[in-house]
Amino acid sequence: MLTETKLDTISAIRNRRAIRSYGPERLEKHVVEELIDAAIQAPTAVHREPWAFAVIQNRERLRKYSDEAKALLLAQQQATSFFEGHEPQALAVLSDPEFNIFYDAGTLIVIGCTAGGPFVEADCWLAAENLMLAATAKGYGTCCIGFAVGILNTPDVKRELGIPEAGAAVAPIIVGVPKGPLPAGVRKPPVILSWLS
Ligand SMILES: Cc1cc2nc3c(=O)[nH]c(=O)nc-3n(C[C@H](O)[C@H](O)[C@H](O)COP(=O)(O)O)c2cc1C
Repeated sequence: MLTETKLDTISAIRNRRAIRSYGPERLEKHVVEELIDAAIQAPTAVHREPWAFAVIQNRERLRKYSDEAKALLLAQQQATSFFEGHEPQALAVLSDPEFNIFYDAGTLIVIGCTAGGPFVEADCWLAAENLMLAATAKGYGTCCIGFAVGILNTPDVKRELGIPEAGAAVAPIIVGVPKGPLPAGVRKPPVILSWLS
């Protein structure tokens, strides 16, 4: 059974925001399945459908991955390139033992692949956007967690998630019931470099 959608497509696009505060509710299995079903409707180069999914609904495990991710990011100093000009704040956040890179969301859906290929990452990110818009339309919040990519691609975690050696975690997306006011969307006007006619 499909759960109700509350928004039309354009409203879902405009209402989707990175949500960083979540209620304690656990997403039911059929909701996660519906979001994954929306994800796999994405366009896919050469119709390869290279995506594969890992679902984590265990807050303790997510907290453990968060702690390991922070340590890895600090050790690799990836934060400096990741934050481009916001290094002090990034390092402070990553050094805070209370900070959870998954914002205490109860569900992480990792979109990844079982083998590489020229457009595999593009396919996975298109699937990720479909998933986030479907979640928004159903009243759930989401956020991409780039901070998690490094830890999810370590051999141990890949093994735990069932990702084969040749595969990778590409797009980690947290999902949950948003808590508190929704953030406003802020965008610069689009840069139109040319419009030839
Ligand atoms: C590839 C990618 C990685 C991201 N990684 C993180 C992250 O690790 N932590 C986080 O809080 N937000 C992350 N975000 C969310 C962005 O910060 C957010 O989309 C941006 O600030 C724009 O806000 P909006 O999505 O609410 O419009 C990521 C977004 C993308 C596309």
